[in-house]
Amino acid sequence: MNHGKRVGIVGAGNVGSTVAYSLAMHGSCHEIILRDNKVDIARGKALDMSQAASAIRSHTVVTVAEEMSDLTDCDVVVVTAGSPRLPGMSRDDLLMINAKITKEVLRDIKKYSPDAIVIMVSNPLDAMTYVAIKESGFDRSRVIGMAGILDSSRMAAFIQEKLGYGGGQIRASVMGGHGDDMVPLPRYSTVAGVPLTDVLTHAEIDEIVQRTRGGGAEIVAHLKTGSAYYAPGKSTAIMVEAILKDTKQIHPCAVLLDGEYGYKDVVSGVPIMIGANGCEKIIEVTLNDVEKKMFKKSVDSVQALIDTLHENKFFDN
Ligand code: 2OP
Repeated sequence: MNHGKRVGIVGAGNVGSTVAYSLAMHGSCHEIILRDNKVDIARGKALDMSQAASAIRSHTVVTVAEEMSDLTDCDVVVVTAGSPRLPGMSRDDLLMINAKITKEVLRDIKKYSPDAIVIMVSNPLDAMTYVAIKESGFDRSRVIGMAGILDSSRMAAFIQEKLGYGGGQIRASVMGGHGDDMVPLPRYSTVAGVPLTDVLTHAEIDEIVQRTRGGGAEIVAHLKTGSAYYAPGKSTAIMVEAILKDTKQIHPCAVLLDGEYGYKDVVSGVPIMIGANGCEKIIEVTLNDVEKKMFKKSVDSVQALIDTLHENKFFDN
């Protein structure tokens, strides 16, 4: 069938719907297909968003896949399916529950949208990206995790709040896994090119680093019944658009490392170039000894989750 760009979204909860809404409002693709076990909720949201698209005279339609077998021939599939992070729950608590869901979803994506580029959003993000790569057998360039754009946006927002100026001019950089050991990099963060250290004290920068690490939990603590979705949804939509428009822009994303930064067979967040083929290039940033140590700690945390999956014979089923 000859069709325009199709984006599948597995999991039409708050994050999945926010991705869909953002794409629909940009007219970024021809069709957005929502897939959720709660089919009626997905149907309602799809109608609502298609009507919003009509309101802005966008050509995008939002439809529903009743079964995974209806999620066919997508160019990009976003996976947000999984149990959400609830108060008091670490991202890692979700490991086994969401690994099982990810495994099933990826088997279906492989079957029904075999050429898709997959963007993983479910937590714990880096481990789920690893599971998705292993279960799909797709090349690592085609399975990318969303987190770095979110974490660096949070850091940028905290810098703006602390400074009281510079909105829209802040480039914050965060590497490593999407966990408590993530690696905010003040040395590579600037306000309109001005190094952070010229406008903030070390104590202020440290505070921003810590707040960035706890950025997700801070929102969970306020919402109480769930976690963030506007910034996670928008960050995901940015990745989808970079693929659909082949922008070849650089964004921090979670990818399988194969020797880069000295690590192999583990997923971590690093700057990559995103284009029509997914991750088209992994950029190796020079890290100093302290940053290397922090990056190692973060990679080790992700490795521990992967080891837990192996110990539970997760990959043998
Ligand atoms: C977040 O950082 C829960 O990982 C999610 O908001």
